[in-house]
Amino acid sequence: MGLEPEDCVVQSMPDVSPTKWHLAHTTWFFETFILKKFVAGYRTEIPEYAYLFNSYYNAAGDMHRRDLRGLISRPTVSEAQRYRASVDSHIDDLLSDADSKLVAEIEPILVLGIHHEQQHQELLITDIKHVFAQNPLYPVFRKGSDGALRRPDAAARRPYQFIEFEQTTAEIGHNGRGFAYDNEGPQHQVLVPAFSLASRPVTNGEYIAFIEDKGYHRAEFWLSLGWMTVNEQRWAAPLYWIRRDGAWWHFTLSGFRPVDESEPVTHISYFEADAYANFAGARLPTEFEWEHAAVDCPIEGNFLETELFHPVAVVSAVSAEKPGKDQGLHQIFGDVWEWTRSAYSPYPGYRAAPGALGEYNGKFMCNQYVLRGGSCATSRTHIRPTYRNFFQPEKRWQFTGIRLARDS
Ligand SMILES: [Fe+2]
Repeated sequence: MGLEPEDCVVQSMPDVSPTKWHLAHTTWFFETFILKKFVAGYRTEIPEYAYLFNSYYNAAGDMHRRDLRGLISRPTVSEAQRYRASVDSHIDDLLSDADSKLVAEIEPILVLGIHHEQQHQELLITDIKHVFAQNPLYPVFRKGSDGALRRPDAAARRPYQFIEFEQTTAEIGHNGRGFAYDNEGPQHQVLVPAFSLASRPVTNGEYIAFIEDKGYHRAEFWLSLGWMTVNEQRWAAPLYWIRRDGAWWHFTLSGFRPVDESEPVTHISYFEADAYANFAGARLPTEFEWEHAAVDCPIEGNFLETELFHPVAVVSAVSAEKPGKDQGLHQIFGDVWEWTRSAYSPYPGYRAAPGALGEYNGKFMCNQYVLRGGSCATSRTHIRPTYRNFFQPEKRWQFTGIRLARDS
């Protein structure tokens, strides 16, 4: 990875954590929930790390303030890497000596720890983007490539279609086979009235039409809280966009470059997504509509693994071999997280587990909206049709975008 130690210590806003903190925190997770629990007499080398690298688990003890993580110059990056190597090696020892009963006990926590680490790998990407964007030198994280996925073709510029779905009673949530977070269950039935879903995400070009039609200055499109935020924050375009010599440019992880109108728009808050939908005479989908539409779509697209770290105007052949209700839905997975209009709340019958790991998801079910589908910074192996991401409606630093829906 193209990062220097100096890059790894900066915290550019309270939502952003330094790279070094992500590395140490994911290590702390394995140490706290596996080594301290399953290794008799385990002694951590530096007990103070538990305070520095606990994120939000009250049941695991006190923690350092999130917004002050950028002030912590020690441990150094190389000390954090040594901490990581030490915990990795203790985990290896534990697993190689464990009998099948112990392995069965450890495995669910180990798997959770790996999925947790994938979440932090995504945050590491979005956080370093925010850090680099503050720098007038506009550092390049990864040189752009003309990879196979990058083909802004005529199809991408075509207007989106609305794919119709009939009213149905849908099975929503994870069926329990394979890993899922607790917030994806219990599986339950939801009545989904007839609706239509756009064939692809909204593009930069379409969003520019909203900007040029004074979308950011017309209160009629905005939720009250969104209108207040637009005016307080003086938003006039997506995060990272700058107007230069009559054209829109934006900062990407491949550097500062002109906005490509055929790419999906990203770094959009829920407020902007909702306002754009109103402007377009549509609305955002519910998370149930989204899941019902996506459940049979193959999980393929522009993910972390393509290492572009930016959404691309790709039109994937989603359903050439799978006629049916997913026909015509493109880029449902990868590229940009899609805001839904669903509040992040518990499914019927949901109960957070007791203890610290029960704090993983449940306690955040307030004042946030659900996003679906993963982004160009999400690992392909991390995402599922039932996966529920969630952020507060004003957040913009994730790769968040828009897919429109309509009542049928
Ligand atoms: Fe975490």
